[in-house]
Amino acid sequence: MRILEPIKEMQSWSEAERREGGSIVLVPTMGALHEGHLSLVRDGRKRGERLVVSLFVNPAQFAPHEDYAAYPRDFERDQMLLEEEKVDILFHPTVEEIYPEGYQSYVEVEKLIPLLCGAFRPGHFRGVATVVAKLFNIVRPHAAIFGAKDFQQLQVIRRMVRDLNFDIEVIAHPTVRDPDGLALSSRNAYLNAEERAAALSLYRSLKRAESLVLGGERKSRRVIEAARAEIEKERLTRVEYVSVCHPETLEEIEKIEGEAILALAVRVGKARLIDNTILRA
Ligand code: PAJ
Repeated sequence: MRILEPIKEMQSWSEAERREGGSIVLVPTMGALHEGHLSLVRDGRKRGERLVVSLFVNPAQFAPHEDYAAYPRDFERDQMLLEEEKVDILFHPTVEEIYPEGYQSYVEVEKLIPLLCGAFRPGHFRGVATVVAKLFNIVRPHAAIFGAKDFQQLQVIRRMVRDLNFDIEVIAHPTVRDPDGLALSSRNAYLNAEERAAALSLYRSLKRAESLVLGGERKSRRVIEAARAEIEKERLTRVEYVSVCHPETLEEIEKIEGEAILALAVRVGKARLIDNTILRA
């Protein structure tokens, strides 16, 4: 595995690979890698002749009061894990090179960004869309893999790729969970044992919602109430939102027909956790 830091080196590598006709797959990450990330990486290893993993904690997607400084970082461990997965390139650019002085261009995805998490994290998805567009331009992959755990992020990126004509296949990878159901997240590192136990209510609430819909419930309001109640049984949780929405537009829907997404965000201790599931009527 080669570690590339300068943007120019990453671009020259990709240009040479493309000239030789090799397919390039990109897995963007912010590091602090866990089995969820590694599952995306293994998927990428199978799909492409060349596999690039980017590791960049993107300041533009953290609001000023958020955890940019505290975000877990362990480059050496990440490097070792990626070497084991036979990654070709670890792209690890500096903040100064991604956002040089005078930087002022951002990607907006007008309707999707203000919904769900966007309402609670102003600027977050604009930062995500911008850095992903930059990574696409620098790495020039044929395909890129994103986790379905960050469902809104996935939809924002899909929309951006269509709207801005990136010639890149966006691949969604299913959510990877601990055996007890907790979705893996770098932010789970903020949880103590008691908080982690409380965080399991997120998974229970998804299961409760799924079983209600399976049992014939079609009213979103009822499903949301039941899911919320499951989480609010736990003293250490604070629900930010529970929403039943359209899988593409992410707009709230009243009646569940076909497929809908149940998405939620909950604060547990210092962590802000998100999760989602597909509801099939
Ligand atoms: P990060 O949180 O590091 O996640 C990197 C990728 O791993 C994302 O596509 C995310 O959806 C996926 N992922 C995280 N936990 C997962 C899980 N439990 N199961 C499946 N996939 C999971 O998401 C970001 O970084 C950033 O916003 C980024 C896209 C890199 C832009 O900065």
